[in-house]
Amino acid sequence: MGVRGITLSGCGISVPDKVVTNDDLSARLDTNDAWITERTGIKERHVGGITSQMAIEAGRSAIADAGLEPADIDIVLLATTTPDAMVPATSATVQAAIGVPGGALDLNAACSGFVYGLVAAAGLVSVGAGRVLLIGSDALSRITDWDDRTMAVLVGDGAGAVVVEPVDGPGSLLSWNFGADGTLRHLLKCDHGGYLFMDGKEVFRKAVRVVVESAERALADAGLAAADVDLLVPHQANLRIIQAACQRLGIPEARTAVVIDRYGNTSSASIPLALGDALAQGRVSAGDHVLLTGFGGGMTWASAVLRWGG
Ligand code: UT7
Repeated sequence: MGVRGITLSGCGISVPDKVVTNDDLSARLDTNDAWITERTGIKERHVGGITSQMAIEAGRSAIADAGLEPADIDIVLLATTTPDAMVPATSATVQAAIGVPGGALDLNAACSGFVYGLVAAAGLVSVGAGRVLLIGSDALSRITDWDDRTMAVLVGDGAGAVVVEPVDGPGSLLSWNFGADGTLRHLLKCDHGGYLFMDGKEVFRKAVRVVVESAERALADAGLAAADVDLLVPHQANLRIIQAACQRLGIPEARTAVVIDRYGNTSSASIPLALGDALAQGRVSAGDHVLLTGFGGGMTWASAVLRWGG
């Protein structure tokens, strides 16, 4: 067997119907639209989602977008921090509901999960797997204390999915970079049965540094410079983090996918939601260089460089 690369052949998203605006939150918490907008860039978020249900919807939509049937998929790989249950893996629920005949597994790398999942999918393909349905789905609203203004204003629910297809030759994934530092796990955590806690200031500081370093390493490994990036798709945690990363990387905001204003921080779903939005707007063409980069609890971070279209 020669080299087997990957290409992304379909994309789908899903968010729950219920929208909570900054004014809705201000009505019951000591906060206001100006603070939330200025400090985070978030205007509204969707809540009340169930991880499996959103994943199923996004997954079905990605399969249809690729012009495929569920039977054409070999593996469901679900990145999530908020599984429906401890056991079984939520991907099993998704696999059965969509009607995928093959394997199913969950992956948790917090907000970096989708990029970790993309590289894991490429690895599966390289050892002979067929198409992988890669989904990022999270329902952070379920592990958030809605009386805690420091977290409630930040989070939202959603899912995004792509079909990862085998191709002959090196394919779309030009390079990748992973990192983790478990000594920082206290900065962002949620114990069993508890609520999300974050040391926001410290996470902010670390996030900008690690995401820039990771993205630069991935670009260097792909033999590319910042000027070659047609679209940056960053994790959507805070608009100020995205802007700081853009500035340090030397990538203009005009070449960046931003959806945080509409969705808030959706963890594993944020990168595919932003990618899906960019694709829907026709912002990605064959041959474009797309840089995905994320960071989150763990801490973990991950970047991947794609040349769109294989
Ligand atoms: O996806 C995983 C990774 N997550 C992230 O990357 C998030 C990283 N961190 C952040 O995005 C920011 O640190 C936050 C948005 C969480 C906070 O922004 P900040 O600029 O770091 O604000 P702060 O925590 O320093 O708080 C500033 C002030 C404080 O009041 P004092 O001490 O200055 O009087 C807070 O008590 O804002 C107050 N504050 C609020 N005020 C209104 C905190 N939360 C709120 C709120 N509404 N919701």
